[in-house]
Amino acid sequence: MNPAAFALWWRAAARWLLACVLMGAAFIAQAQTIRYDAATRVFRIDTDAVSYAFGVNENDQLQTLYWGARLAAGDALPAAHTNEGNVSFDPPESTSLQEYAGWGGSLYVEPDLKLRYANGNRDLVLRYVSHRIDGNRLDVHLRDIRQPLDVTLHYVVDPATGIIGRSALIENHTKQAVTIDSVAAASWNLPAGEDYSLRYLTGRWAGEWQLQTRAITPGNTVLESRRGSTGHENNPWFAIERGGEWAENHGDVWFGALAWSGSWRITVEQGVLHQVRVTGGFNPFDFAWPLAPGESLSTPVFYAGYTSGGIGEASRLLHRFELTQVLPQQPKPRLRPVLYNSWEATNFAVDQAGQEHLAELAASIGVERFVMDDGWFGARNDDHAGLGDWVVNPKKFPHGLKPLIDKVHALGMDFGLWVEPEMVNPDSDLYRAHPDWVLNFTGRPRSEGRNQLVLNLARQDVRDYVLKVLDDLLSHNDIAFLKWDYNRNWSEPGWPQVAPDQQRKVYVAYVRNLYGILAELRKRHPHVEIESCSGGGGRVDLGILGHTDEVWPSDNTDPFDRLSIQDGFSYAYSPAVMMAWVTDSPNWVNNRRTSLDYRFLSSMQGSLGIGANLLHWTPTDFATAKNYVADYKAIRASVQHGRLYRLLSPRDNSPHAVTESVAQDGAQAVLFAFLQASQMKYPYPRVRLQGLDPDARYRWRSLHGEPVAGTLAEASGAYWMHHGIDLALTGDHQAAAIVFDRVGGGQ
Ligand code: DGJ
Repeated sequence: MNPAAFALWWRAAARWLLACVLMGAAFIAQAQTIRYDAATRVFRIDTDAVSYAFGVNENDQLQTLYWGARLAAGDALPAAHTNEGNVSFDPPESTSLQEYAGWGGSLYVEPDLKLRYANGNRDLVLRYVSHRIDGNRLDVHLRDIRQPLDVTLHYVVDPATGIIGRSALIENHTKQAVTIDSVAAASWNLPAGEDYSLRYLTGRWAGEWQLQTRAITPGNTVLESRRGSTGHENNPWFAIERGGEWAENHGDVWFGALAWSGSWRITVEQGVLHQVRVTGGFNPFDFAWPLAPGESLSTPVFYAGYTSGGIGEASRLLHRFELTQVLPQQPKPRLRPVLYNSWEATNFAVDQAGQEHLAELAASIGVERFVMDDGWFGARNDDHAGLGDWVVNPKKFPHGLKPLIDKVHALGMDFGLWVEPEMVNPDSDLYRAHPDWVLNFTGRPRSEGRNQLVLNLARQDVRDYVLKVLDDLLSHNDIAFLKWDYNRNWSEPGWPQVAPDQQRKVYVAYVRNLYGILAELRKRHPHVEIESCSGGGGRVDLGILGHTDEVWPSDNTDPFDRLSIQDGFSYAYSPAVMMAWVTDSPNWVNNRRTSLDYRFLSSMQGSLGIGANLLHWTPTDFATAKNYVADYKAIRASVQHGRLYRLLSPRDNSPHAVTESVAQDGAQAVLFAFLQASQMKYPYPRVRLQGLDPDARYRWRSLHGEPVAGTLAEASGAYWMHHGIDLALTGDHQAAAIVFDRVGGGQ
């Protein structure tokens, strides 16, 4: 090769080498979920659809830089700089979007951490010290400017959904005692804007899961529970949309949920420069956590995500996240069995013969799990006595639970049992023996709720007792499922057995022991599944869902009310965990009469259960029910683990409600449609499906109700999504369920 040719060859080879190196670097950068740029001091989290970034500013404080749709790998975010604001009244600490702000200096926005030292100092200013990246996890270490008061921020990223979990560990390495007055898991910052609106869930007993929408304007919106548990009134979930359209299938939505089952608070704040900040953690109301030198406190996890696919996609991401990351059986939870529950049939009047008879009837329609509810123990004939005495009632079950359990097994079902382990009736042997075991302030009244008091689970002896009782129950009986109930909120939350400065730890210590008991029981009895119930949906959150397999969304089983209850529930939680029973008509809640078909279709939108008094059913009812239970088993994978599309909302007195569940593999879609009342001969609105493969062919079949005459028997996904289907629904409280099976084409 002559020198000129060699030079040419060398230049080409060098270019090729450089390209390889750059591509390799880009590939590595692309593949890494979490990166830190030392030159700009910027942390960047990238998943397929989402980017989240924060930096260390010139004051060494962490400042959010970006949270939204995925940015290109080459988009180098500029370093963080404090906002100048107005130096008199709006200082940089308050107008710069801090990731985690200590209350100190001149901070006026919601602090993440507020504390006081024994010497009276209450100033806390946190600065970046160091960090550690470990796969999808990032820890950032902060320290106060003067004291070794340390905070470690944990970030954990789920690449599949783009959902990030954030929590904080507070460590007192100083030489004096510190008391934490308020501590959040995280603050989530959104860019400045005046067109944000907030969605959140409110309710009460028998009226849970009502979706609320309000514009975010200057000031704070506080969502909270001060009741010791999650509560029916507010749920620790939020969604924020930009633009105010709230479309189901497009638009920027930021959403989040706090994994905590005790008193909690989420504050949605619009600051003076229209920046939106969402801060969530333990509720600071009546809270105080002393930290002696060397002690620490960790917060629950506050999860949040972003999508440009509208609120419908936000819900689907949360559903996926719950199934694959949160539930005890993640990443592939077992499909929920069809269960029967005795509560609405018998109330407290359970006995061996009666339960065996109900079990026979339940088995005849294909039920897979038979659950005996309240009334089987102690002197529990109504809600005045017996709670706390977890001994089988000898009059009702002379030979213990074994004969009933054997019978249930012989019928081909597994057996479940109701318990309410955290409570006690004053009229019980347990309370007579241990009146000091309940939450109380010495010498003050003990307010009862449903004639019961709350055991102080924060106490080690109470925690040990509850664990032993349940462990014995599960060790001596072949029980596959516990319905874990919790039927009142706290009052007089005193813990007189510990020093006064330790007593307010009860809010956290109680819940931690609850989680500990659940975890230990699951470890010792790995096959046992658990439902979280609190007078209906009073304890549903991502914390309890880490320890339980399903939840009871509401005591309200009216199938019409359930449409809006289930609709609200679905914004935050997966249909897989949403138990829904078919009960009697007229329903006890509203005295409303509905057909068995309507009741089944309403319940089949979630995890199906039967709670009716089967002794009152006709042979036709049994035949109808048997068909629906069989149908449900064939579609439940789509309903429970599929993708949910809310096509028509039942909210705001809408006469129509439609949902569609699409199987994960796209092979099936199930449409549920409800008509509350026909009016003026209007036809049912045409239903356009979503989430199908446009190129695949789908053939419909009816479980109940029909499309109008002349509807194509089979068509492309594009046809069903763009043209849609007309349903022949008329009358009052009518319902239809149509299954679309993929019969070919597509991918
Ligand atoms: C409240 C629950 O929500 C009901 O389903 C039932 O289990 C009762 N408690 C039993 O007391």
